[in-house]
Amino acid sequence: MKTKFIAFFLLVFLTFGFSNCVTPKKSGPAKQETIALKDIYKDYFPIGNILTGRYLMGDYVDILTTHFNIVTSENDMKPDSLASRLKPGEYNFGSADRLVDEALDYGMAVHGHTLVWFKQTPAWMTTGTPAQVRTNMVNYINAVLAHYKGRVLSWDVVNEAFNENINPGNQDLSWRTQLREDSPWFKALGADHIELAFRTARAADPDVVLYYNDYNLDNQRKAQVTANMIKEINDKYKAEGNKRNLIEVVGMQAHYGTATNASNVRASIEKFRDIGVKIAISELDVEMKSVGSGSFGAGRNSFTTDVEQRIQAITYAQLFNVFKEYKDHITHVIMWGIDDEFSWKSRGNPCLWDGELKPKQAFWAVVDPNKTLRL
Ligand code: G3I
Repeated sequence: MKTKFIAFFLLVFLTFGFSNCVTPKKSGPAKQETIALKDIYKDYFPIGNILTGRYLMGDYVDILTTHFNIVTSENDMKPDSLASRLKPGEYNFGSADRLVDEALDYGMAVHGHTLVWFKQTPAWMTTGTPAQVRTNMVNYINAVLAHYKGRVLSWDVVNEAFNENINPGNQDLSWRTQLREDSPWFKALGADHIELAFRTARAADPDVVLYYNDYNLDNQRKAQVTANMIKEINDKYKAEGNKRNLIEVVGMQAHYGTATNASNVRASIEKFRDIGVKIAISELDVEMKSVGSGSFGAGRNSFTTDVEQRIQAITYAQLFNVFKEYKDHITHVIMWGIDDEFSWKSRGNPCLWDGELKPKQAFWAVVDPNKTLRL
């Protein structure tokens, strides 16, 4: 009983007491800071954020260009943005081009997101006979990679092909049986659509680095299934005499929460490293409360307590210490949003800046993870 009381007292002191007196009392838009995340991480990995029209204006663009050196578009480079929703063979590159060119002008690298996904894809692409759908996929990948040749460094070729979760009771870790069967690509072409997409992308532009991207990859079963798929496809490709991997990087989306265990993230990074691929932390955010995927409505960009801020900061610090440790295997770390107000998970306040663009404790945790963990 007594031990429990002391532990409780210590926890309250560590979270309330220390954070109140030691947390840097910085405020105001980060452009006033002399600190830049991209400089802090220059010997580790490029660090990035999402590209949207909003983030190229006002105070946002200062934050974006001060702190980040790589971007990926949040929505504008998805198939339902780049391809006409109604007319096969017609493309709308206009708004994505403006974003990409502006990012390049600012000296940021651009990672493409995403070519083959079960969402945000015009229906015509996945409708018709298997031969027609196959042709649609090949034409789309060829057109997009040709259009962005020399401008886009790397692409998420396939996004979220696997089921959301692979339950503990499910012992079947063979990857073909864990694919989303409701994906229109899967329905039309089966499991082989993944290899087709990667082979098409490699042939379309060998200079581009090819990624498989998914979420919940801190779940060891899902990570194992994903590694099994990548290894099988890469082994087959190399057996044909190719020196390079076909799937070169696995993007761990990293939509995390304060309950995320950094040891699981580490174990997954090691699993992917051990099959010879690199890892990207591709869509990082850490929500404070479990709010599901609902982004808007009551509680959006809500008030958070100092304790909540502190716990979130600790999670960010633990994660960045893992990322730093595995820097030789990590291609980039990209965050999914600058501020809590316009995050897709706004109600969970998952970003480094709050709705008024003030850097949060989470920001300082990324600046100096060990300092946050010592506080
Ligand atoms: O484009 C329409 C627009 O025409 C309409 O007026 C407006 C009204 O609501 O909606 C617009 O579409 C929205 C779109 O974002 C563009 O703003 C959709 O409703 C909305 O659902 C969509 O959400 C995006 C979501 O992907 C869709 O799947 C989020 O912004 C985006 O952050 C999110 O990103 C995904 C990654 O691509 C993959 N990994 C998970 C991540 C988070 O869900």
